[in-house]
Amino acid sequence: MDAALYGPAGFFVSGAGPADHFRTSVHASPAFAAAVFRLVSRLDAALGFPTPFDVVDVGAGRGELLHTLATLAHTDPGPVPLARRLRLTAVELAPRPPTLPPHIAWTTALPDAVTGLLVATEWLDNVPLDLAAPTPTSPGGTTSAYRYRLVDPGTGVESAGPPVTVQDAAWLARWWPGPPRPPAAGGTPDDPDLPVARVEIGRSRDEAWADAVRRVGRGLALAVDYGHLRQARPVDGTLTGYRGGRQVPPVPDGSCDITAHVAVDSVAAAGAGVAGCAYTLLSQREALRALGADGGRPPLSLAGTDPAGYLRALAAASAVAELTDPAGLGGHHWLLQPVGVAVDPLMAR
Ligand SMILES: C[S@@+](CC[C@H](N)C(=O)[O-])C[C@H]1O[C@@H](n2cnc3c(N)ncnc32)[C@H](O)[C@@H]1O
Repeated sequence: MDAALYGPAGFFVSGAGPADHFRTSVHASPAFAAAVFRLVSRLDAALGFPTPFDVVDVGAGRGELLHTLATLAHTDPGPVPLARRLRLTAVELAPRPPTLPPHIAWTTALPDAVTGLLVATEWLDNVPLDLAAPTPTSPGGTTSAYRYRLVDPGTGVESAGPPVTVQDAAWLARWWPGPPRPPAAGGTPDDPDLPVARVEIGRSRDEAWADAVRRVGRGLALAVDYGHLRQARPVDGTLTGYRGGRQVPPVPDGSCDITAHVAVDSVAAAGAGVAGCAYTLLSQREALRALGADGGRPPLSLAGTDPAGYLRALAAASAVAELTDPAGLGGHHWLLQPVGVAVDPLMAR
């Protein structure tokens, strides 16, 4: 996965960029950046209008979110203008886009000290992870354990690898509960026809998020991603590929995105452990509503009294509708990890 996405010919570092292949919230509507900007303004006030106020976008794609935030900051008449204090940093493995404004910094490494917002939209689902599956039960035996899945990078054909490490076994025991469901006894671990219930070991995402949270001295770390919780892990996992707007088999040959949903509660616990304070988990639908983007249609009566205003409100509502659709982007998780601030006032409706 690492080589397929970030190696020399990797999907994310050598191609045109995520927007050509799939639609994230950032691409779907400027209402997303507007809501994030509202959060930035509230956080800025909660932190006492620091100089600089950082916005660090981890896995920034082509810098689209930061670009829009910079534009919004210039139109903001806040009490202590943010535009002059804003320090924008894209953390991204892909090369810097030539058209990006020079005041947006571009780096592959997380900054050491962040005061403000660290945001990661659809980053963690692209942090490489290992898959495992139960080994067949030995004849007459009752025990089974997990073995890694190996994959042929050219074809995507899988086979059983070595047993998982003690650390990964511990992660699975805590975060992906339930006894391994081994394939039928009598099969061999390498039999490609055996049905296997794969699990996705989220330890690498926990570590990545903990490392990001560690950089926030004061402020908020926000991850927005699709994911699942311990009580409802998806059977057989979620590994898949995307190319050119379509879902494709996850063959790790560099030709497609390879992604797996995030074990959000596990990631959240890792971040909270570093920050030393509790996290908040919301759906994107709830979060955007709290930030003033509710997607509600304007009352029809407005059409009679203010037709132009009605049309404007209708256009704004449909722009938000895709972001808040519970069956789509609205079902994404917002993981808010505060450091030295309270979340409730930031997300008050
Ligand atoms: C799905 S895209 C999301 C882009 C953007 N945040 C958005 O929401 O449209 C994931 C991005 O994360 C980047 N990425 C993944 N791991 C990274 C890492 N460790 N450091 C920096 N960028 C990373 C990839 O190169 C890719 O551009």
